[in-house]
Amino acid sequence: MARRRVIIDTDPGVDDAVAILLALASDELEVVGITTVAGNVGVDATTLNARRLLELAGRPDVPVARGASRPLNGSPQLDVSVHGADGLGDLLWDEPRVREHHLDAVDLLHEAITEAPTSIVAIGPLTNLARLLERYPGDDEAPEQVVVMGGASFEGNVTPAAEFNVWYDPEAAAVVAGASWPMVFMPLDLTHQALMDDEDLARLRALDTPVGRRVADMLEPYAAFHDEWYGTRDVIMHDATAVYELIDPSAITKQGVGLSVETSGTYSRGATWFDRRRVNETSSTRVGLSLDNELFVTVILERLARFA
Ligand code: BDR
Ligand code: CA
Repeated sequence: MARRRVIIDTDPGVDDAVAILLALASDELEVVGITTVAGNVGVDATTLNARRLLELAGRPDVPVARGASRPLNGSPQLDVSVHGADGLGDLLWDEPRVREHHLDAVDLLHEAITEAPTSIVAIGPLTNLARLLERYPGDDEAPEQVVVMGGASFEGNVTPAAEFNVWYDPEAAAVVAGASWPMVFMPLDLTHQALMDDEDLARLRALDTPVGRRVADMLEPYAAFHDEWYGTRDVIMHDATAVYELIDPSAITKQGVGLSVETSGTYSRGATWFDRRRVNETSSTRVGLSLDNELFVTVILERLARFA
């Protein structure tokens, strides 16, 4: 089976961690790099977390390249409550031996997508992708596919209008929305169907492996946050949906859309407008609509069980 090359642009992040491990464990995918961005926590922490996760997965061969420390037009805006102060639930980790790559995120992305057909999984703020288009305008043609976790139609999660990854850097999201890449967006309307419950966490722990225990430990404070915020401990696996799309493109139903991002507005900065009118049926930008959660969770548990 030909493996699909992917590079993951990320701000780990507990659900980013599950997405990265899911990708690394999946035969359908060949992870050729991880690029980091400020988002859930600052870029020092997201870069350290990417290195920690590769060490945990036993994959020091995957390059980690550091990206933007701030949104295009501003200073970092940190939201430390959701993923813990360190971004991965504040557990104890040994210093990872995995080193940072000498290229920065934009150059590693460029190198990966121009070397061979490669898809980008973007599961943090879109600053690095916007900078890629700025530094290498020709890359508007380059990636095989770009799958983004971001946006919301019904309701945001930082403000009523805006989802976190878009809210953090709306200008970057607007640049990406204007690219001619074939793109799939996984908005909150889709990701809120992608849930793991306490029984799933117990199954992870019962794997009795370093990955199973670590992921269960990371998800514990995330579940407590969900309980406080949403009134249920079921955790939302936002970012893993983007990886799932590349593992099995038929698993998530999708629709062609027009996309614009609100970069101003008194109440709506960071809002995403998915224009679902029929005229956009064949658009190269699509949005995820629905998934079968039982199947999704089965795939995650089965794949994470592959780590020794
Ligand atoms: C997104 O925001 C982050 O907190 C998550 O990692 C995910 O990428 C969900 O809105
Ligand atoms: Ca993320």
